[in-house]
Amino acid sequence: MSIRVSNNTFVLQTEHTSYAFALYDGKYPVHLYYGGKQDCTTLTIPNRYNAFSPYYKEYGMVYSPDCAWTELPLFGNGDFRATALKLRGADGSCVTDFVYDGYEILTGRICPEGLPCADPDQNTQTLALRMLDSVTGCLLIAYYTVFADCDIITRYFRLENAGTASVKIERAMSATLNIPPVDADYVILRGAYPRERYYQREHVAYGMQSICSRRGASSHQFNPFAAVCTHDADEDTGEVYGINFVYSGSYLTEIEKDQNGMIRLQTGLGEENFGYLLERGQTFDCPEAVFTYSADGLNGMSHNFHSFIRAHILPPEPFPTRPIVLNTWEASYFDIDENNLLRFADAAKENGIDMLVMDDGWFGKRDDDTSSLGDWYEHKTKFPTGLASFVDRVKAKGIKFGIWIEPEMVNPDSDLYRAHPDWALAAPGREPLLSRHQMVLDFANPAVIDYLESLFDKTLGALDIDYIKWDMNRNISAAYSPYLPPERQDETQFRYMKGVYRLFRWFGERFPKVMIENCSGGGGRYDLGMMKYSTQIWTSDITDPGLRIPIQHGSTYAYPPCVMSCHVSNSGNLTADPRRLDFAFRTAINGMLGYELHLPDMPDQVKATVREQTALYRTYEEIIKKGRFYRVHNPQTGPYYSYYFVSEDESRILATFLQHKAQEREDVRMAFRADPMARYTDELTGKEYAGAALCEGITFENSTEDYAYRMFLFRKVGESL
Ligand code: GLA
Repeated sequence: MSIRVSNNTFVLQTEHTSYAFALYDGKYPVHLYYGGKQDCTTLTIPNRYNAFSPYYKEYGMVYSPDCAWTELPLFGNGDFRATALKLRGADGSCVTDFVYDGYEILTGRICPEGLPCADPDQNTQTLALRMLDSVTGCLLIAYYTVFADCDIITRYFRLENAGTASVKIERAMSATLNIPPVDADYVILRGAYPRERYYQREHVAYGMQSICSRRGASSHQFNPFAAVCTHDADEDTGEVYGINFVYSGSYLTEIEKDQNGMIRLQTGLGEENFGYLLERGQTFDCPEAVFTYSADGLNGMSHNFHSFIRAHILPPEPFPTRPIVLNTWEASYFDIDENNLLRFADAAKENGIDMLVMDDGWFGKRDDDTSSLGDWYEHKTKFPTGLASFVDRVKAKGIKFGIWIEPEMVNPDSDLYRAHPDWALAAPGREPLLSRHQMVLDFANPAVIDYLESLFDKTLGALDIDYIKWDMNRNISAAYSPYLPPERQDETQFRYMKGVYRLFRWFGERFPKVMIENCSGGGGRYDLGMMKYSTQIWTSDITDPGLRIPIQHGSTYAYPPCVMSCHVSNSGNLTADPRRLDFAFRTAINGMLGYELHLPDMPDQVKATVREQTALYRTYEEIIKKGRFYRVHNPQTGPYYSYYFVSEDESRILATFLQHKAQEREDVRMAFRADPMARYTDELTGKEYAGAALCEGITFENSTEDYAYRMFLFRKVGESL
């Protein structure tokens, strides 16, 4: 049993953690504890009060919403910190007072309606905590779902308007964590196009520090993941609280250190790009937040997120091995046609590559990025014999075939826009801003999705495809839906995302054997919402290994390497120098390998190298896909990036050390979570190691040249002597 309730105290237990709260006077849920596993039944709510803090007459100056570590902070009723819910009643008031109204423990879970959420297994349990606001008549149900095996708890709330008048939700945060006063840092993943998810660590100061996206996408700039850790925490030691959001649109994450030093960490839809009119009898579900605690440093937190994502978020693996792709984008851009693509297919087949991915440029009259988004039918001059017969010819060579689409977008120069100008987001009477010459379709309008479903049903349904690359190459600037009435315009972004998820679900049902790779100009939607439908995500449009390294490193804090799509390309003319090509490969095998080269025209030497690389990758793939991942050297704070995987059965350790630029001679050290009682052999050199020595750390020389790397593959060969 992972959920226990006694004497108004609710305890959620995972394998290594406990989360507890109790009801103050049987009415208000107040947080008691989140940390390493313990029996929480003897914990009680301390009195917390500060001068100037409002209090309920009946309790006096011992309890105030302003100082309480509440599970559900409410706007407008005495809590002056950032709150989780702001609800405006029909009378214009934003004061609410939700009080406890019962609970249920469910086997499994209830998913938020129309939104992605984590899949339960046979051990999953959910606490449904009901709270009622007597004046508006609204019922709030907070769902806490416990994924005990990965030390993860998720939370979201449902609001049911059981009152007599409409209310408006003006702020919604899915989860609120209360972290005791400690000297803490926070870690976020910041960036831009195309340098997403750089690790950034700062001290938690008094007051508010927040990250958000207002772009209608989870964004290149601030990934929705955040962690708060003790100031002394490192990769392997120290306490860490991590949070993330199963959502791909605009969001808000707040870290607020209050007057008493307590840290409130919360994530949700926020308020700037969100509002929702809830009429009598209607129900609203917010997206799901995910949180974890680890006493084993940042690597410990990452392990919890990685296991959770692999077991409860990602779709089932579509193929026994992940296809190594040859993507046409960086090789040919829009210059593709039947004949050159068939040459790509031959080159793929001959060099150990499993799939040809035809990127942008195959539809409408798309010869550059100024036209045709929305016209998802074949480019007649590029495919004179028809796309279906071309795909059959590719497949006849014995490789898989993938195709690129960008369903959410439309170019003003397209048949779709000419036929339905009111299907694009745009404010009335104003010229809409363009980005990459394109506009955003109104996915809040169900007719737009109906149309796309029937179009893709016909055009992609006629092709024997194995893979879809789903792109999204601009952000939403004018979130005005011509379909929605004026009083519902604040709902546009949220309804847009639900429309996107609806189309993803349709693709999953219509093309159940097809693998989806998500992309948004690289990693602009590298989030848990997209991971629910995508086996992997294109990590970034940057493929130069030196610039790729910090992106891949940062991504691993929150997301497992098995979602990280990494291509060897010819960026910086890598193929001219065998050492650089080798380094690009060593960088790419941090995740799932692919190529983005003009392989048909490459010299034989490059092709031979690609053949060696693809064969070698196959021997590592399983451990990269499923192994436990540990970061060692941080490329944001030093010149090296190093990490290792421990295989699922713990018999092997695959370690990589990457040094992009020449350094002054020094020794470097890597320590491993090996079995101290075992002996190991490095399969790459034949050298033997005692497990205890690997735990202690091995020392080796760095390089005084660019593009240096070291790899080790330790295999357990027996007991230590
Ligand atoms: C985005 C993607 C690229 C490529 C182009 C095509 O930028 O990230 O990989 O698909 O679009 O236009």
